[in-house]
Amino acid sequence: MKAVAISPAKVILFGEHFVVGGNSAISMSIDLPTTVTVEHFTQNQVQVKSDDLEVEAVFSQDGKLARSSGENAETTLRPVFQATAFTLKKLNKPEHGLKISVTSKVPIGMGLGSSAATAVGTVIGIATLHGSKISNDDVFEAAYSLERMVHGHPSGVDQATVTYGGLISYRKGKVNDKLRVTKPPLMIIGNTGKRRSTGEFVGRVTRLRETQPNEYGKIASEAQMIADKAAEWLATDQPEKLGALMNENQRLLESVGVSSPELETLISAARAAGALGAKLTGGGGGGCMIALVEDSTQLKVSQAIERAGGQTVPGRFTPKGAQASLCDA
Ligand code: MEV
Repeated sequence: MKAVAISPAKVILFGEHFVVGGNSAISMSIDLPTTVTVEHFTQNQVQVKSDDLEVEAVFSQDGKLARSSGENAETTLRPVFQATAFTLKKLNKPEHGLKISVTSKVPIGMGLGSSAATAVGTVIGIATLHGSKISNDDVFEAAYSLERMVHGHPSGVDQATVTYGGLISYRKGKVNDKLRVTKPPLMIIGNTGKRRSTGEFVGRVTRLRETQPNEYGKIASEAQMIADKAAEWLATDQPEKLGALMNENQRLLESVGVSSPELETLISAARAAGALGAKLTGGGGGGCMIALVEDSTQLKVSQAIERAGGQTVPGRFTPKGAQASLCDA
C-alpha cells in the first residue's frame, strides 16, 4: 500500500512581504503539481528521493545521514526528512521506516511555493498512509510550524494556499476569506531563472520595518489598501480591474528593495505587449513575475516575456488544494 499526495503550486497576487508584518495577502493556487509518494520501509530509516533531481538520501530516525547519492542530495532532501520526522512525531509513530519520493513540475526557489507544496504533500501523504484523517487546518498548522522551524518568520501564506487551494485572502496566520470567483484572473507567469533566498529578502523588509517604522508604515498601509481593493474586484468578478493595482503593488515592492533588474525587464516587456498589469510574485530578488492578460493578449505577452529573456511557466488557477489517497503499491 502507498499514499500519493498531490499539491498545487501558488502565486501571490498581492501583498507578499507586507504580509509578514501583518498585512493581508491575496494568493491563488495553480495547477503545477508536486507529487509525494509515501510507502512503508522495512528498515527503520527514512529514504527520500527525487527522480527529477536525481538525488537520494537515507536518514536514520535521529536525523543522521546514513547515505546519499547525487549532487547536493542532503541539502536538497533534508527538509523532506524534517517534515517526515515532524509528522511521525505528531502521529505518535516516531520510529517508523518510510520511503518517500517527490516529483514536481514547480521550478525550485522561484517564488511558486515548491517547498510549501513538498512539505504539505509530505504531511498529508504520511497521515494518509497511517489511516489518519487529518483536517486541512491540521495540515496547515503542521506545514506552517515546520516552516517556522526552518525559516524563522514566514507568514504562512504559501502553506495556506497550497493546503486549502483556490483564491484566498490571508492575514496574521489564517485564511480571512476564501474568494469564490467565477472568473479567475488569467495570469502569465514569467521566470527570470535567477534563484534566490526568500529569507534574505524577507530580512531586508524586516530591517526596514524595524529601523524606519514610519516610512514602512506608510508603504504598508498603501499595500493594505491595494489588497483590500483587489479582494473587492475579485469577489465581484472584475479581474480585469486588477492590472492597475498590480502595477501599484510592484512600485511598493520596488521601494522596499525586493525587486531586481531581471524582474523589471520581464515586467516592462509584459506591460509593453499589452498586459493589464504586472508585478513580481513571491520573495522577489529574482524568481518569477506575473502578468495579468486577457484571452486576446496572452500569446503576445508570453512571447514578449520570452523575448526579454524569461521563461514562461504553464500554470493556471486551480480551486483544488492538496489531496492524498491510498493505492496499491
Ligand atoms: C513568499 O512566497 C512570500 C513572502 O511574503 C514571505 C512570507 O510570506 O513568508 C515573501
